[in-house]
Amino acid sequence: MSSLPRTRLVIAIQKSGRLADKSLELVSSAGLRVVKGANELLYRVENYPIDLLRVRDDDIPTFVADGVADLGIVGRNVLEEAAHDPPPEVIMPLGFGRCELKIAAPEGAPFDGPASLAGMRIATTYPNLLSAYLARNGVSAEIVTMKGAVEVAPRLKLANAICDLVSTGATLEANGLAAVATILRSEALLIRAPHPIGGEFAPLADSIVQRFRGVTASQGAKYVMMNAPRAALARITDILPGADAPTVTPLAGVEDRVAVHAVCQESVFWETLERLKAAGASAILVLPIEKMM
Ligand code: PRP
Ligand code: ZN
Repeated sequence: MSSLPRTRLVIAIQKSGRLADKSLELVSSAGLRVVKGANELLYRVENYPIDLLRVRDDDIPTFVADGVADLGIVGRNVLEEAAHDPPPEVIMPLGFGRCELKIAAPEGAPFDGPASLAGMRIATTYPNLLSAYLARNGVSAEIVTMKGAVEVAPRLKLANAICDLVSTGATLEANGLAAVATILRSEALLIRAPHPIGGEFAPLADSIVQRFRGVTASQGAKYVMMNAPRAALARITDILPGADAPTVTPLAGVEDRVAVHAVCQESVFWETLERLKAAGASAILVLPIEKMM
């Protein structure tokens, strides 16, 4: 399938489900003003020539690989299950929509490594990933491909085990199932067509990717400020999680204390603040970061 020349950059996102809300949030945080018009399939961005193509997540890899969309936001689980050749290119992980593709069996069923799956019937909506996992482990089992509601298959005696996404684990628990193996760790990815994005849209696409990168990088990052004894600087830098060289400025009228400012890439916990305090820091402030570039 080849696509018609377009007048707007197209970003494919999941219409509803696991990634839908967060994908729209990311787009808004990147400064794109989304107008939800009458057209459910296409949302228009009013301040840039960009459209959001809202589709089923399973269709996103194909749309992006074929150039129907220039960029896409999709789970690693969906991307790797879609056997498109050549596959879309992964630009970066986006830090949300984390979940795992797991094999689960009725609670209490004996499990002693992948070999225990030999000869079983395993229900899944991920036949490709499951079959690759079984092959990797040299196990021969029967794959029962379903469209959904995989978790009820063991109770209906359709299968002995399932292979499905798990995030909180509530679905497994509600169905008397327990995870026995992990096949894939997944999160939302930004993907693009395997060929370069068409001429006039290339700069716009680049700028959107940079903004997504900025929003993603600032998630969880914190700006930390404090006053500290000059003598304790090395210790304090060690305690700050994921910080580069901090900015150190003199404090007016004070000789031996300085102001320390740092961007921490990881979560700053109360324990961290207590350790900073014990190292002599005072007036410690932890601030959220909205944008970063
Ligand atoms: C997955 C999976 C389970 C549920 C697990 O479905 O099929 O139903 O999520 O999540 P939990 O561990 O938090 O209970 P999903 O929401 O992705 O919908 P889909 O299967 O229709 O794509
Ligand atoms: Zn789906």
